[in-house]
Amino acid sequence: MTKNYNIALVGLGNVNRTLADIIQAKGSELAEELGFTLRVTAITDWRFGTLVDPAGVDLAAVLAMRPDDTFVALGGTVPAEGSDNEEFIRTAPADIVAEATFTNPVTGEPALSHVRWALEAGKSVCTTNKGPVAFAVDELKALAADNAVRFEFEGAVMSGTPVIRLASGPLKGVGMKGFSGILNGTSNYILGRMEAGLSQLAAIEEAQDYGYAEADPTADIGGSDVRLKVMVLASQVLGVELASEDVPTEGITAITPQMISDAVGQGKHWKLIGQASKDADGRVTAQVAPQLLDASHPLAAIPGATNAVMFDTEYLGPVTISGPGAGRIETAYALLSDIIAIDAALA
Ligand SMILES: NC(=O)c1ccc[n+]([C@@H]2O[C@H](COP(=O)([O-])OP(=O)(O)OC[C@H]3O[C@@H](n4cnc5c(N)ncnc54)[C@H](OP(=O)(O)O)[C@@H]3O)[C@@H](O)[C@H]2O)c1
Repeated sequence: MTKNYNIALVGLGNVNRTLADIIQAKGSELAEELGFTLRVTAITDWRFGTLVDPAGVDLAAVLAMRPDDTFVALGGTVPAEGSDNEEFIRTAPADIVAEATFTNPVTGEPALSHVRWALEAGKSVCTTNKGPVAFAVDELKALAADNAVRFEFEGAVMSGTPVIRLASGPLKGVGMKGFSGILNGTSNYILGRMEAGLSQLAAIEEAQDYGYAEADPTADIGGSDVRLKVMVLASQVLGVELASEDVPTEGITAITPQMISDAVGQGKHWKLIGQASKDADGRVTAQVAPQLLDASHPLAAIPGATNAVMFDTEYLGPVTISGPGAGRIETAYALLSDIIAIDAALA
C-alpha cells in the first residue's frame, strides 16, 4: 500500500492555497514519482475559518471558494474570535503541519508558537515563514528531535530555490567561510529600474503594479526582510544564531539616481547585499547594506526580482546559486521539497 501523509494547513493564502492546488492537480503523478500520497485533513485560516476531515477535506471545493466565503458552507466553522490556533494545531489529524501565515519581524509570532505547538504534538512542520527560523531555529530543531519529527524551512530564504539544503547538504564539509546574497527581489528590481532611468519612487510604484512590492514596501527597501534572511542563513551556513542587533542594517532608500548613473558610468552596479562571514577565531560578523559591485562580481548581473547567494568556501572558492526568491508556485514548491525531506528523514 502506498504511504500517505496527512497534512494540516495553517493559513490559506497564496502559498498554502497553491500547495493545496498542487496536491489536488498533481497528487497521483507525484505519488508515482515520490512513493507517497498527500492528503489535506485540516485547514485553518483567519479569513475562511476551520475545516477538519480525517478522511481528507474536499480540496476541489476549498479551491473553488471565493474570498468572502467561509468553511461553514463545507461543514466547517467560521474563524473563531481571538483564536490562537493552539487547539487546532495540537489536535489536527495530521502528520505534517504546513505553516504559511505571517511573521512579526520583531517576535517571530504567531508562526513561532504555531511551530512549537505542532512539534510538541509530535507533528513534523514545514514552513515558509522566516520568523521561527530566524529567532529560534536551534530550539525548534531540538524540539523536533525530542519528538522524533522534523522541522523543515527551505522557503524561508529564496522560496523554492534550494539554498538552505545546498549549504547544509551537498556543500557540507566544504569549509564555509561566509556568504553574500541578493536576498530581496523587490529591492533588486527597483535598483535595476533605477539603472534604466526611473526615480526610486517610480520604480517602487512599478514594482507594486507588478505585484513584487507590498503596499507598504518598508521591509523590502529598508532592509529588515534581508536581515531576517541573513539570520536564517547564518544559522544554517555558519552555525551561529545571530540576534537582530548583530546585523547592522541599511536599505536602499539613500541610493539616488546620481549614485546609480555614476556607477553605470564606471561599469558598476549598486546591489543590496546581505552577508555574514566567519574569521579565523570563529567570530561571525554580519550586515545588510547597499554595495557597489564591479561588473565581474558574481552578484553584479543578477537581474530583476531574481535572488542569489554566493558562498565563500575553503575548498571550492566562491559557489553561487541564483533563482526565484518569491512567488506563490515557487514558494509552495519549497513546502513540497520540505515534505520530501521529511519523508526521506523519517523513512
Ligand atoms: N508569497 C511569497 O512569494 C512568499 C515567499 C517566501 C516566503 N513567504 C512567506 O510565506 C508566508 C505566507 O505567505 P503568503 O504569500 O501565502 O501570505 P498571504 O497570502 O498573506 O496568506 C497568509 C494567510 O494566513 C492567514 N493568517 C494570518 N495569520 C493567521 C493566523 N494567526 N491564523 C490563521 N490564519 C492566519 C491570512 O489571513 P488574513 O488575510 O485574514 O490576514 C492569510 O489568509 C509568509 O510568512 C511569507 O512571508 C511568502
